[in-house]
Amino acid sequence: MSTLATLDLLSSELKGPQYWEALRELQRRGPLTWIEGHGGYWAATGYDVVLQMAQDWTTFSSAEGITIPRPGPDVVPYIVPLETDPPRQRVYRKQVNPELTAKALSILEEPIRQVANELIDTFIDRGSCDIAKDFARRFPGTVFFKLIIRCPDEQFQLVEPIARDITFEPPDTEKWRNAINGLREWADATLKARAGDSSDSGGVVNAILHLNDNTAEELETFADHELASGLQILVQGGIGTSASVIGVIVRELCEDRGLQERVRNDPTLIPRLIEECLRLEPPLPIVFRTTRRDVDVAGRQIKKGDKVGIFFAAANRDPTVFERPDELDLERPHYRHLAFGAGVHRCIGSNLARLQIRVAIEQLLARLSSFWMPEGAIIEYSSLQARGPSSIPLEFTRTS
Ligand code: HEM
Repeated sequence: MSTLATLDLLSSELKGPQYWEALRELQRRGPLTWIEGHGGYWAATGYDVVLQMAQDWTTFSSAEGITIPRPGPDVVPYIVPLETDPPRQRVYRKQVNPELTAKALSILEEPIRQVANELIDTFIDRGSCDIAKDFARRFPGTVFFKLIIRCPDEQFQLVEPIARDITFEPPDTEKWRNAINGLREWADATLKARAGDSSDSGGVVNAILHLNDNTAEELETFADHELASGLQILVQGGIGTSASVIGVIVRELCEDRGLQERVRNDPTLIPRLIEECLRLEPPLPIVFRTTRRDVDVAGRQIKKGDKVGIFFAAANRDPTVFERPDELDLERPHYRHLAFGAGVHRCIGSNLARLQIRVAIEQLLARLSSFWMPEGAIIEYSSLQARGPSSIPLEFTRTS
C-alpha cells in the first residue's frame, strides 16, 4: 500500500478492491484531511462531515463544477442542475422531480421487465456471457431512451450506443469526443422537436423544455445549451451508475452462492441487497465543491476558495455509523447510506435507479436457475464516470 503522500485517490489506475483499501487508509487519518496533488483539496471521509458538507450548499457550492480539474465554462459550460446552485437549481428540480417519483414511475415496472427479458434473451441460449457488457451496460440506457424519453426505434438505435460510448469509453479519446457531440446534437434536436409538438405529451423532455416558464423574474433564464445540458445529464448520470450497481450485485451473488440461494428463494430481500451494494460500492464515490467563505469544520480551518472532496464512499463505510462496515449484511437496522448524495443535489434518479436495478436482479434470478463465475475468471473494473465492474464473465444454467 502506498503512503498517503503518494496515494492518488482520483487516479483511474486505482481500481476495484484497491480503491476501497486506499479510502480506508485515508479515513484512518481522521474525518477531514488535506490532500496535496490536483491543486490541493480537503478530503471529507467521516459520515457526519460528509453529510454536513453535502447539505450546506451556501458554504459548499457546486457552481464551479463537481470534478477536479475541471475545464473552464468557456470550454465546457456548467451543467444544469448538477453544477448550479439554488435558486436556479431548484427551478429544474421543482419542474423535473415530479416526472421521476416512485409513483410516476410505477407504471413502467412491467415495460422495464420486458426490456430486461429481451436483453436476457440475447444470451440465455449460450450458457455463458459477460454480464457487465451483455446486460448491465445496455439495460439502463435502453430503459431510459425507450421508456422515459419514448424515442422512436430509429433514433434509439443511434443514440443508445452513443450514450454507452460516453459512459464507458475513456474521456479525451476521439470516440468519446464524437459521442459527446452526438449526445449534444441529440439533446438539442429532441428539445426542438418537442417544442414544435403542440400536444402536451408530458415527461422529462417537456418539463425541461418549459423551465423558463417557471423562472422567477429576478432569475437569469436558462439558455438553450443549459436546457440541453439538463437533458444530457439524465443520460450521463443514469447509465454507468445503475450498470455498476447491477454488476456489483451479480458479483456478490456469485461470490456467495448461499446468498444467491437465499435471495432466489426470497426475492423480497432484493431491495435490501440493493441498498447494501449501494452502500458498499457507490458508483459515484466522490463529488467536489468550492468553499464560499472561511469556515471551521471538524476542527479544521477551511478557507474561502478551497476545494473540498466529499467522499460518499468513505461515509458509507464509516465504522462509527455502520457496524462491520466492510461486510454485506442484509439485516442492518437502517440504510442511511449516502450513495445518492444528500441535500439539494441528492440524486434525482434514485427512484428510477432502484426500480430498474430491482427488476433487473429479479429477472436474472428468475431466468437463470444458477449463475457463477468460471474458474480463474477475472473481473475488470473501470474508474471512469462511475466506478464499478466493467467485465464479469458468467456461466449459468437456465430455468426450464
Ligand atoms: C445507482 C444509480 C445512481 C447513483 C448511485 C447516483 C448517484 C448520484 C449522486 C451521488 C448525486 C449527487 C451529486 C452531487 O451531490 O453533486 C446524483 C445526482 C444526480 N443524478 Fe444520480 N445516481 C444514480 C442514478 C441516476 C439516474 C438513473 C439518473 C437519471 C435518470 C440520475 C441523474 C442525476 C442527476 C441529474 C443528478 C444531479 C441532481 C442535482 O444536481 O440536483 N442519477 N446522483
